[in-house]
Amino acid sequence: MPKTGSAQINGATRICAVYGFPVAHSASPAMHNAAFEKLKLNWRYIACEVELKKLAEAITGAKAMNFIGLNLTVPHKLLAVEMVDQLDISAKVWGAVNTIKFERDADGRIRAVGFNTDADAISKSLCEDLKIELNGAKVLLLGAGGAGRTAALRLASENVSEIFLVNRTFSKILELQKEIQQKFPSVYVGLNYPTSSDVKIDLVINATSLGLKPEDPSPLDENQFSLKQTRAVYDMIYRPAETKLLKAAKKAKCKTANGLGMLLHQGAKAFEIWTGKPAPLAVMRAALKKNIYGR
Ligand code: ATR
Repeated sequence: MPKTGSAQINGATRICAVYGFPVAHSASPAMHNAAFEKLKLNWRYIACEVELKKLAEAITGAKAMNFIGLNLTVPHKLLAVEMVDQLDISAKVWGAVNTIKFERDADGRIRAVGFNTDADAISKSLCEDLKIELNGAKVLLLGAGGAGRTAALRLASENVSEIFLVNRTFSKILELQKEIQQKFPSVYVGLNYPTSSDVKIDLVINATSLGLKPEDPSPLDENQFSLKQTRAVYDMIYRPAETKLLKAAKKAKCKTANGLGMLLHQGAKAFEIWTGKPAPLAVMRAALKKNIYGR
């Protein structure tokens, strides 16, 4: 194993970064630096707190400094679509950029190419961690922000049969319903919880931020939907490892998983885009767990 730590940084070290606001909690540096070390790359991954109004400037700066690439997290993923020189098909399809690769064109100019690795990560993690067959599944999705929208579209593209959308701000689920119906007309999109308690669901997903803070209530209104109506519950939140929702779901004997797998797979795909090599998944997963849970 090569030596780790700042001693190894030298004139040839190349940089990747995640831009977010806030970003100090990010586990991505731990995950990617472990992977760079495993592949003996003289690369480092750092986290930069970048305000939304400085995003364009910060992308230009990274390009000028010959960075390898960037990840973008809240609140940058939508605006970045307008700020790259080229969009990969993944970013076009999902309408958001969470990964940028800086590439040199034939004239030697550097271009920023935008990708989306979040959408694939959602279905990968659901299949891997819950062993869910998405084709034909009935899903109840809580949240219609950036993550909720991507999840809804991705699930629709996987041919789920029904999606019920729940969100604090109703206008967002109306808009999302329209978008899904336009792009995936065969998928039934319900607004709010299923009206009958006889309706059985295969999967409940939390894509709201409720559960991040210990005092948060569960995002699921159990007066309107009983956990007995579902087989599995996925919470995109991975810190804490077990939210109130997941605790209740376990008690109700549902299969459960948190969002660590999503974080892992979006990072692994970004790694592959930057390096052109398979991501060392086990190393990345272990680094994430150690960083987030201390074990
Ligand atoms: P992300 O990119 O992580 O999805 P986001 O776009 O800010 O972040 O979305 C946050 C989600 O959590 C939204 O669905 C939001 O509901 P609104 O669309 O009504 O804002 C939901 N959310 C955040 N705080 C909430 C709260 N206190 N109660 C219910 N839902 C909440």
